[in-house]
Amino acid sequence: MNNLIQKYNVQGPRYTSYPTVPYWDVNTFSGKAWKESVKRSFEESNEKEGISLYIHLPYCESMCTFCGCHKRITKRHEVEIPYIKSILREWQLYCDLFPSKPKIKELHLGGGTPTFFSPEHLGMLIKGLFRKAELDENCEFSFEGHPNNTTREHLQTLYDLGFRRVSYGVQDYSVKVQKAISRIQPYENVKKVTEWSREIGYTSVGHDLIFGLPHQRIEDIEETMARTLELLPDRLAFYSYAHVPWMKGNGQRGFRDEDLPSPEAKRMQYEYGKKRLTEAGYFEIGMDHFSLQTDGLYKSFTEKRMHRNFMGYTASKTQLMIGLGASSISDSWYGFAQNVKSIEEYQHLVENGIIPIYRGHILNREDLVIRRHILNLMCRLETSWEEDSMKFDELDLVLDHLEEMKLDGLVDTKNATLRVTEAGRPFIRNVCMAFDLLLHRKAPEKRVFSMTI
Ligand SMILES: C[S@@+](CC[C@H](N)C(=O)[O-])C[C@H]1O[C@@H](n2cnc3c(N)ncnc32)[C@H](O)[C@@H]1O
Ligand code: SF4
Repeated sequence: MNNLIQKYNVQGPRYTSYPTVPYWDVNTFSGKAWKESVKRSFEESNEKEGISLYIHLPYCESMCTFCGCHKRITKRHEVEIPYIKSILREWQLYCDLFPSKPKIKELHLGGGTPTFFSPEHLGMLIKGLFRKAELDENCEFSFEGHPNNTTREHLQTLYDLGFRRVSYGVQDYSVKVQKAISRIQPYENVKKVTEWSREIGYTSVGHDLIFGLPHQRIEDIEETMARTLELLPDRLAFYSYAHVPWMKGNGQRGFRDEDLPSPEAKRMQYEYGKKRLTEAGYFEIGMDHFSLQTDGLYKSFTEKRMHRNFMGYTASKTQLMIGLGASSISDSWYGFAQNVKSIEEYQHLVENGIIPIYRGHILNREDLVIRRHILNLMCRLETSWEEDSMKFDELDLVLDHLEEMKLDGLVDTKNATLRVTEAGRPFIRNVCMAFDLLLHRKAPEKRVFSMTI
């Protein structure tokens, strides 16, 4: 195993999109092309399957020094109302493009910290969004809660508006690790919010854990797993710590590179965690995710309906996903677009009636085919090029790249199908990289991706 780790531990994307953001072709992208792709996607899919909405709520009261998310640290809660107004204004700009009322199938509040906002203000935001839309009869609403500031009132307000799924950032229970990442978060807080969620009626409570954090040892994973299993969340993200200190403003500091576990130690932490979770009845689905058999994501995984986008894994796919808020990314299936990251600039643009995107990519035929292969691998651990629509010119090059992984037992190929083996699961990002034609054609000029292991 150690040899494989050394061999395959390279910089690589997490494939929440294909093409990945550093490979977006900004030269062929324009606001006009983006709006056309949104309209096309809306017309093709709104009635049939509805659309997804992702709302980025970027504020946090304090900085966790491991966090790679886009956030703004402040204790000034006066920012809430103006930000909500901007989101509703941006939503209006999209609704103006649509020829009929959008039907919301999925709605996710991410951050930053959605529970930075008061329950009352979150209620205003959601009701404002609903005013312009219809709701799909099987709509799914979810949010990210911070265990330190989620109140019973937050949970009740959002439940009353239709939210049934919540995920809490937990990371690790060891005090030493919590100090290193500047995130002191007692187990009692996680227990309290998990229990409240269940009492109120949430059907899926998730916890986010991370391995590979500074000063984290296998003993810390043991303790974190033991505590996690006392609460038995329905769903678990068990993320590999993404160390990307070169990314502007992410605040990954307060520890040295030497404080991070080695790639081998990190892999052992993952293997240990996986063993504990599997023994406790969890199933590993896709990359970094585990769920109990009773959770909706498990069912969608076994029925091959699971999808992956900028929000991570979702139980079903909509062709159109609109991301509202500073830094949010939208996906029209034919194109991607990202909003400006500065909150002030975002607010200024929407006030002036401009959809606040600053970069994006329109997918060509090759991109669309490769994207489907990568989605298949990430969501089903297999893909096939049997059908003509899944064939592409440089298939031989991809198969050459996979040859070594085949010899190492990470993948199997039979006829025109590729399967990731059990031993290959930890290397899923590397398998996807074999299909990434843009990466083969041009290596990134600077460090943009975290390590794959
Ligand atoms: C927006 S936060 C969750 C909500 C809330 N802000 C909180 O911290 O509880 C999203 C999650 O992304 C994960 N995350 C953030 N930075 C990461 C990194 N550098 N590597 C791996 N996972 C990370 C964490 O598990 C975190 O809980
Ligand atoms: S982990 Fe959550 S609370 Fe901490 S800085 Fe990141 S988004 Fe904010």
